[in-house]
Amino acid sequence: MKKICTILAIAAVTSLMAADGEAIYKSKCFSCHGDKASKAALNKSQIIAGWDAAKIIASVNGYKNGEGGPMKGVMKPIASGLSEDDLKAVSATIASYK
Ligand code: HEC
Repeated sequence: MKKICTILAIAAVTSLMAADGEAIYKSKCFSCHGDKASKAALNKSQIIAGWDAAKIIASVNGYKNGEGGPMKGVMKPIASGLSEDDLKAVSATIASYK
């Protein structure tokens, strides 16, 4: 019985830790980038739906380092709040939007 509990606990923790790109997008990006990343955020950004995941990662990491366009101040705190794993997961999700 003890063994089963341990296994269940490990399974629960693992699923919590696996970054869910869709959930991250909905909670952290959707409000500005719109449904399936189809909107220009605050009418300023490029439409990022279908961008290559690597391009999204590079762009978001750029914001962390103070790069970007005229509205980069908006993205900086958002970029800084994402872990590497979250960024990978959410970029793959956005890349899958068409
Ligand atoms: C508060 C609104 C807001 C939220 C929330 C937001 N963004 Fe942005 N995003 C912007 C704006 C505004 C720009 C354009 C910034 C600039 O001038 O470079 C932008 C630009 C970008 C770009 C580069 C596009 C370009 O025009 O070069 C990427 C990639 C991006 N955001 C990804 C994300 C991701 C991923 C999330 C969620 C983790 C997110 N954004 C959340 C407002 C937002």
